[in-house]
Amino acid sequence: ILTQIKHICCIGAGYVGGPTMAVIAQKCPNVKVTVVDLNAKRIAAWNHEDLTQLPIYEPGLAEVVKEARGRNLFFSTEIEKAIDEAQMIFISVNTPTKTYGAGKGMAADLKYIELCARQIAKISQDDKIVVEKSTLPVRTAQAIKNILDHTGNGVKFQILSNPEFLAEGTAIEDLHSPDRVLIGGDTTIEGHKAIQALVDIYAHWVPKDRILTTNVWSSELSKLTANAFLAQRVSSINAMSELCEKTGADVNEVARAIGMDSRIGPKFLKASVGFGGSCFQKDILNLVYIAKSYGLHEVANYWEQVVIMNDHQKRRFAYNIVKTLYNTVSGKKIAFLGWAFKKDTNDTRESAAIYVADDLLNEQALLAVYDPKVSDEQIYSDLDYLNSRSSEDNATSVTIYNSPYDACKGAHAIAVLTEWDEFKEYDWLKLYNDMQKPAFVFDGRGILDKELLESIGFVYYKIGEGS
Ligand code: NAD
Ligand code: UGA
Repeated sequence: ILTQIKHICCIGAGYVGGPTMAVIAQKCPNVKVTVVDLNAKRIAAWNHEDLTQLPIYEPGLAEVVKEARGRNLFFSTEIEKAIDEAQMIFISVNTPTKTYGAGKGMAADLKYIELCARQIAKISQDDKIVVEKSTLPVRTAQAIKNILDHTGNGVKFQILSNPEFLAEGTAIEDLHSPDRVLIGGDTTIEGHKAIQALVDIYAHWVPKDRILTTNVWSSELSKLTANAFLAQRVSSINAMSELCEKTGADVNEVARAIGMDSRIGPKFLKASVGFGGSCFQKDILNLVYIAKSYGLHEVANYWEQVVIMNDHQKRRFAYNIVKTLYNTVSGKKIAFLGWAFKKDTNDTRESAAIYVADDLLNEQALLAVYDPKVSDEQIYSDLDYLNSRSSEDNATSVTIYNSPYDACKGAHAIAVLTEWDEFKEYDWLKLYNDMQKPAFVFDGRGILDKELLESIGFVYYKIGEGS
């Protein structure tokens, strides 16, 4: 197995593959990095001369791409060529929740991973290191190994697990100075050599004591565990937010009080309308499925509760709006500030906004949506994907605006679904003047200034704040 890596290939040019490889290329100018994808439109966007047209929005990403693209960073649809050239191949394709067959709605769908493994097996002429970058069920490396070891052409493969911990919106910051990099590999001599080859890549910019090496199964399982713990914190604080509202406590004060305990820590204790994003729910359901498959029902039920709590949080936010607006929102305009699952990203996968919108549309509300980064097509396609009603009905009931002031004009209520900074800076008096009265604000992110809003005349509801 080669220990000096000159060519890297990454299969999958998505939210993980794109930024991760851009940073590797930036920090390792002597390594050629080629990111490939089946999706030609996505690759064309990565190659777009105008850096504002990159397929994903991440602060700082354009600068990194600008520095490395064309030098040692390449985006291409020529998958076979890139695999053939590379000594190290990252698999960074999507691993969504299965929508069919056994494990439907729970297990991770590994068909894209298997396709990659088969393609690598078919093309490889010399020894290669295959790196799992995607989030995978524990023991997937075994399946990949079985496929790769049956090519019959004598090529030797080492399989590493190198899960990615970046969060969207801060991807470049997270990649530049990660809390840790995790690399799992075989405990054989060849395995150690492969691990070392990947350590050497990260050591270009990550301090050695932050590069953690483990066996493959620990590495695979650590990724699911990390996401489960993070999501659990959000569901825990969200559970308390409902109790705060009933008792007159304020969830932000509670979070601050417990967060100062160094054993608990202050991060990830922000109550919200519910967590979204492509991974938390998918990874927990995957974990639940794995636990069940080993007959560990208590373990499975324990983690499933995190997702159940999150669904409840989204739903109760929607029903609080209905209840507060005199038990009907039929025909009423409700303005949504934000559609993305968190600020500083254009990603909407599993965004709480989608589910709150769906519930309100079932109540015949008319929605007016404004988000600074999400495209109109994305919003409609998110709603259509739910199959709750026809796309014509979604198009009639949901209007998308380029200006928050237009979105809120004539509305009965404003709902804050994403914590975009700009929402705090709006001229709230102007928004108020153009709304129906009483004018309601439902702050699902707890970001607005209660005193200011109430002094203007708004009826203000903040998640987790009792009165
Ligand atoms: P994504 O959907 O944005 O990107 C995946 C890409 O892979 C797509 O562009 C798709 O066209 C491509 N692809 C699929 N099969 C292919 C094939 N056979 N050949 C070539 N290209 C193929 O997904 P993502 O958000 O980048 O996530 C990728 C993985 O990383 C997932 O397992 C996810 O759980 C994990 N992850 C995601 C994040 C995140 O913040 N999004 C963070 C950490 C880990
Ligand atoms: C998350 C993890 O933070 C990353 O470490 C991981 O790599 C990634 O999942 C993944 O595997 O995909 P991400 O989903 O991009 O990253 O964003 P987060 O910052 O974790 O936020 C997730 C959701 O939780 C968002 O909807 C956010 O608004 C919500 N959240 C987060 C809260 O409601 N409260 C908090 O205190 C923190």
